[in-house]
Amino acid sequence: MSRLIFYVFLLLSSVAFSNAYNFSAYAPPSIVLDNKYFIEIEQEIRVGFRLFDASSVNKDSKTIKYQNLQYTSDPPKVKVPRVVANKDKLYLFGINGNDFFETTVMFSFDINERIWRELKDINMPSHLSYNQEEQFVGPDSSGNAYLLYNDNNVMLTFNTETLKWNEYTIQSFVLTGYAFYSWYSATILPDGRIIYIGGRFGDSTGTNYVDAQMNQVYVYDTTTNNWSTQATSGTVPGPRNSHSASLTSDGRIIVYGGVTANNIPSDPSLVVLDTTNYAWSSPQVTNPIGSVWLAPSVIIDNSMFLYVGINSTTSVWYAFNKVFMLDTSTYTWNALDPVAIDDNENIYSNGNHQISDGINSMNKGDPLTIILIIVLIVISSIFILMLAGVTFYKWYQVKYHPQPPNDQKLSHV
Ligand SMILES: *[C@@H]1O[C@H](CO)[C@@H](O)[C@H](O)[C@H]1NC(C)=O
Ligand SMILES: *[C@@H]1O[C@H](CO)[C@@H](O)[C@H](O)[C@H]1NC(C)=O
Ligand SMILES: *[C@@H]1O[C@H](CO)[C@@H](O)[C@H](O)[C@H]1NC(C)=O
Repeated sequence: MSRLIFYVFLLLSSVAFSNAYNFSAYAPPSIVLDNKYFIEIEQEIRVGFRLFDASSVNKDSKTIKYQNLQYTSDPPKVKVPRVVANKDKLYLFGINGNDFFETTVMFSFDINERIWRELKDINMPSHLSYNQEEQFVGPDSSGNAYLLYNDNNVMLTFNTETLKWNEYTIQSFVLTGYAFYSWYSATILPDGRIIYIGGRFGDSTGTNYVDAQMNQVYVYDTTTNNWSTQATSGTVPGPRNSHSASLTSDGRIIVYGGVTANNIPSDPSLVVLDTTNYAWSSPQVTNPIGSVWLAPSVIIDNSMFLYVGINSTTSVWYAFNKVFMLDTSTYTWNALDPVAIDDNENIYSNGNHQISDGINSMNKGDPLTIILIIVLIVISSIFILMLAGVTFYKWYQVKYHPQPPNDQKLSHV
């Protein structure tokens, strides 16, 4: 009996504390489908799931068309989804919103069929790690998408063709004295190397952070599963985390926005890393849009789109009331008004649409956690009282009621 109580206690405490613990925050995904569409997904699909049509714009456009897929597709309850696309299909891996124990779940969604399918693979991780803000990187030419779990020294892969998960142990590259690396950008090159830019290192208490240096980048070679550092040259820009990074067809990584480990907007906002020689440059920008962070970007043809995130001036998590489009050859910004294909679904008509708070909403104690903690305290109090009672009773018996000899005991029966 006491063993059973102990296990119930252990189970409840692990659930209550995993809920009470600050779960990792959410970085919106940068997803391109069919070299034509990009999607905006909020930290819960049911709250925001929009498909933007980049083929509806040219460089003089004033509007961009979108559809609200959360209204038309009856999405499953997946929280903080990590998302990767392959042709018409999206793969979403996140926390099962119906599960008390916060196990993970994975679905595929076809943007033409509009059908959700649950995917199961024996090697799919059952939980998301803490300090694990990374979105999927990829897919590469073999269909693999990558998720770095660097606080566990693991690189996870999900193959968008075979739908199988895999896991590779990696050598640690986290700075001495720090426990994890986060809020970097990760960009995969056509040769299969992933370039990790900026970010910050955090210690195990989750309170001290230091900027990753920009005079080098971390390179993960997906063909050898090996890390290396690559020195950068040119005018090294200021440090940053929570920035975006997108690759042009001629090998430039355009890095935008972000903040330093002390939450100061990165300077300059737009910098470019040429992956043919690892030289940084800070081009002259026309019509600058100001500083943002946690804003994903995608490149389609010659245009980079930036569409949701945190405005550094207002510090509020918004789906911006504009979609920003950058001409990647002239570095000229153009602001587009999003227009819903179905007019009833236009969420942008009344200025900025505030979306679920991606940074803090996971930090608040939800009612379930509070109930669990109360149940836990009650059960553990009963348990401790029982233990004390039994101990006292035994001690009392031994001291004042010495056990009768066996024969006497038998005579009572
Ligand atoms: C969770 O986050 C909040 C706000 O960021 C902070 O005040 C609190 O100390 C954190 N709790 C833990 C257990 O880290
Ligand atoms: C992996 O990288 C280390 C240095 O970071 C190097 O010494 C080693 O040879 C590399 N291994 C492979 C298989 O590339
Ligand atoms: C950020 O907010 C400021 C002040 O409201 C506004 O002028 C600016 O256009 C906003 N930037 C973006 C990218 O939405």
